[in-house]
Amino acid sequence: LANGLGKTPPMGWNSWNHFFCNINEKIIRDTADALVSSGLAKLGYHYVNIDDCWAEHDRDSMGYLVSRRSTFPSGIKALADYVHSRGLKLGIYSDAGYQTCSGTMPGSLGHEQKDAETFASWGIDYLKYDNCNNEDLKPMKRYPEMTRALMSTGRPIFLSLCEWGDMHPALWADKLGNSWRTTMDIQDTWESMVSRADENEVYAEHARPGGWNDPDMLEVGNGGMSNDEYIVHFSLWAASKAPLLIGCDVRNMTNETLTILGNDEVIAVNQDPLGVQAKKVRMEGDHEVWAGPLSAFLAAAAFYTGEEVNIETVHLS
Ligand code: GLA
Repeated sequence: LANGLGKTPPMGWNSWNHFFCNINEKIIRDTADALVSSGLAKLGYHYVNIDDCWAEHDRDSMGYLVSRRSTFPSGIKALADYVHSRGLKLGIYSDAGYQTCSGTMPGSLGHEQKDAETFASWGIDYLKYDNCNNEDLKPMKRYPEMTRALMSTGRPIFLSLCEWGDMHPALWADKLGNSWRTTMDIQDTWESMVSRADENEVYAEHARPGGWNDPDMLEVGNGGMSNDEYIVHFSLWAASKAPLLIGCDVRNMTNETLTILGNDEVIAVNQDPLGVQAKKVRMEGDHEVWAGPLSAFLAAAAFYTGEEVNIETVHLS
């Protein structure tokens, strides 16, 4: 999407993979603090993204979304101000249907302009836009309404589209969003992670600066995989130019988790300005090689056997 955003894949954190609906404004503020104090913010993790379940079940009498009074009593504008004061950006979540996927809050279908203006007035920097409860209207019809509405606000807002790959958004969403999902939701298991990486790889040619394939958010640090498996997970996402959205509780992460997420060489592969997604170039038994070009005559390769990984950057000149 030509809104000037997403020249490299977005980096940050999202509430869903760890907290699901159990979120509140303190978690979001403390997460912003933890991103800064851990050093992750300095490495590029700038987006603090609130997922589903942040709003009241009903709009107000004027049709505006209202943040949930019991969990976000200060309101989203105050939260955006706080997150901005830490040098970070705030993301939020809505849905191109009449309700979000959790069913606990309204979607934006038919309210796109009003919601886009609301988000812009709050100082929102990123919108994850889901696809549930859509009355079987095609996302190719519903997503453009939000794209246009966001563009009309004049505020640069990264737009992350969340159709789960069934309709191959990689083939048509590049003018509508800055990223698009290529898979169903990830789970915190090796099988789920590897299958998402493989399904996402099919669309490698469609990733480029301004628009990225999204195999879903990171599970690193959530406890379902071994440390080595998380290293593979992070390396594959980095080489695949996937959004690097941390999905664990960064307020309470282990040193091992911080070491994986804070690996600046792996991050540099992801953030390389050429923006070409790595592909699986070799499979031998349980050994795979993923490789892709980088700018400045470098190439990256990731190897894994299920238990080990290596990312190497090789000077070609
Ligand atoms: C869908 C999305 C998830 C998450 C949930 C929230 O399942 O794919 O990433 O946003 O909705 O309900």
